[in-house]
Amino acid sequence: MTVTIVGSQLGDEGKGGVVDLYGDAADVVARYQGGDNAGHTVVHDGAKYKLSLVPSGAVRGKVGVLGNGCVVNPETLFDEIDTLRERGLEPDVRVAERAHVILPYHRALDGIEEDEKEDLAAGTTKRGIGPTYEDKAGRRGVRVGDLLDPDVLRERLEYVVPQKKALAEEVFGKETGEEFDIDHLYETYREYGERLAEEDMTVDCGSFLQKRIDAGDNVMLEGAQGTSLDIDHGVYPYVTSSNPTAGGATVGTGLGPTVIGDGEVIGIVKAYLSRVGTGPLPTELGGVEGQTPDYDATEGADADEEELATYIRDEGGEYGTVTGRPRRVGWLDMPMLRHAARANGFTGLAVNHIDVLAGLDEVKVGHSYEFDGEEIFTMPPTTEAWGRCEATFETFDGWSDVDWSAAAEDGYDAIPENARTYLEYIADELDAPIYAVGVGPGRGETVVVENPYE
Ligand code: IMP
Repeated sequence: MTVTIVGSQLGDEGKGGVVDLYGDAADVVARYQGGDNAGHTVVHDGAKYKLSLVPSGAVRGKVGVLGNGCVVNPETLFDEIDTLRERGLEPDVRVAERAHVILPYHRALDGIEEDEKEDLAAGTTKRGIGPTYEDKAGRRGVRVGDLLDPDVLRERLEYVVPQKKALAEEVFGKETGEEFDIDHLYETYREYGERLAEEDMTVDCGSFLQKRIDAGDNVMLEGAQGTSLDIDHGVYPYVTSSNPTAGGATVGTGLGPTVIGDGEVIGIVKAYLSRVGTGPLPTELGGVEGQTPDYDATEGADADEEELATYIRDEGGEYGTVTGRPRRVGWLDMPMLRHAARANGFTGLAVNHIDVLAGLDEVKVGHSYEFDGEEIFTMPPTTEAWGRCEATFETFDGWSDVDWSAAAEDGYDAIPENARTYLEYIADELDAPIYAVGVGPGRGETVVVENPYE
């Protein structure tokens, strides 16, 4: 069967920990979208591995697959594989031949356009994600399968590179270097193709996964980013360029929707909100210079809010894994979660980081929005409208810090009562049961209520 793991908010909900937890029962872990904009830290046998492209299951001896919906930077891919090998692991990583390749000009253009966009900039990771998906949709991309055939690679580059060079030089007025040089790109990427072939890494993703399922294997489909960063269902244009929502799992792997729908779709919820990047955030506490719209650190927001935001940011380690940027933080946003529950059809929820909120006197939740004088319960479709929404809060009594590792061992009833009230409110509102509760960053620090593979 398949279990699909989806971020229900703005990424960084702690999906990696859940993939790790349930991944024990999986034989194959596949990513279906995104590229090296994601960041996950895996702790294995006391060693810490920071990965942005290779699925975390590969650290634990599972087959890791990068599906056709992913965009693959071969440099990152091989760096990560080499680092894992140097540390004594033998990662088994497969890459879909239909996946698109991130080339150096994509990264360059991502940076150039972000600077140019000013207020419309999404605050991207500058990994070339958007420009690569643009070329995919524009039918001028280079696919992983093209790297295996030097003639095809050359032909693709000869068509596209002059356009990219003209864009950088003539539209944006930038000087360009070897990242826009056909010969250099051809040589470098042909070599990546040779290595992919030598190591027998490329697959026809859909049939590879279907065969494994038919043979009785458990497959986990790991979404990157989150629902509100989805190109269709997120807060456009402050989004990533792919579909982290569950529908992306089918198009991004080549498994049919009935196969995915036969399995489980688990929504990962952080107990509060965090966001790297720009755009509105109705439940935000305080702000972060350069990311919060119209935020001026010298004026400051409400001092108590700023203090609370700093506390949550530090307790929760809310700094980007890939970029190190401080994340914006806020209270849980229920309209955002109701939207996610519908768009993804969650069969279960994993709520993470409830330990981070421990010790606060009260915990608030944005229960609904006031929008143009009306109370609404889900997100409006345009980001401008979302920016006009004011959150209406509900307040819960706080819970104290306990020995969370012990709670993880003892089970759900060992979670403080007020925290359980909070969790049950979330489950009721989203009409999906709680499968797991993250109570700390360590591997054993999750209260497991339900294992979807059992
Ligand atoms: P891109 O995916 O690099 O194009 O960035 C687009 C938006 O998605 C920006 O607001 C990023 O901060 C956000 N983003 C991309 N990847 C992640 C992630 O893994 N976690 C959280 N935010 C992300």
